[in-house]
Amino acid sequence: MKIAIGCDHIVTDIKIKAAEFLKKQGHEVIDVGTYDFIRTHYPIFGRKVAKAVVTGQADLGVCICGTGIGINNSAVKVKGIRGACVADVQTAIAAKEDLNANVIGCGGRVLGVGTIEYILEAFLKAEYKPTPEKEALIAKIDAMVPENDCIENDALFDEFEQKWAEGYYHD
Ligand code: RB5
Repeated sequence: MKIAIGCDHIVTDIKIKAAEFLKKQGHEVIDVGTYDFIRTHYPIFGRKVAKAVVTGQADLGVCICGTGIGINNSAVKVKGIRGACVADVQTAIAAKEDLNANVIGCGGRVLGVGTIEYILEAFLKAEYKPTPEKEALIAKIDAMVPENDCIENDALFDEFEQKWAEGYYHD
């Protein structure tokens, strides 16, 4: 399976370990960044993971930030993404079986790589169990997101990047 994985600077080390784990499981991993610990913004990488999935470059996506919340919340703004921010194996399985989730988010700081590995393994092994009701609900959820150009607009976060370069942010 092709899996896109992204993170913010808080958890780059955890992301790298999670990517290695996925490779050992036989998956092809597309690491969309960030690649170091220099301050950045998690939505940049949530969008990159989402873009890889909705364009078909990847089958599934993995989003990791400190809590998992910010990066996953960004990914689900992209039409076609069904994301689940999870902290346990049972929820990860339900996300696939019930929602047919195509992006999973985890908090690297709150979970650590061990729990994330269990979650990823369970999520990847689980299969969507479609029913007419689930299909209808998923279609309704998808219809909540309007057609948008955020996938084409690679300049979406340029303002943030520029402010960093100008010293606007200090942490
Ligand atoms: C740091 O930017 C932190 O807020 C981020 O990693 C994440 O926890 C947000 O949800």
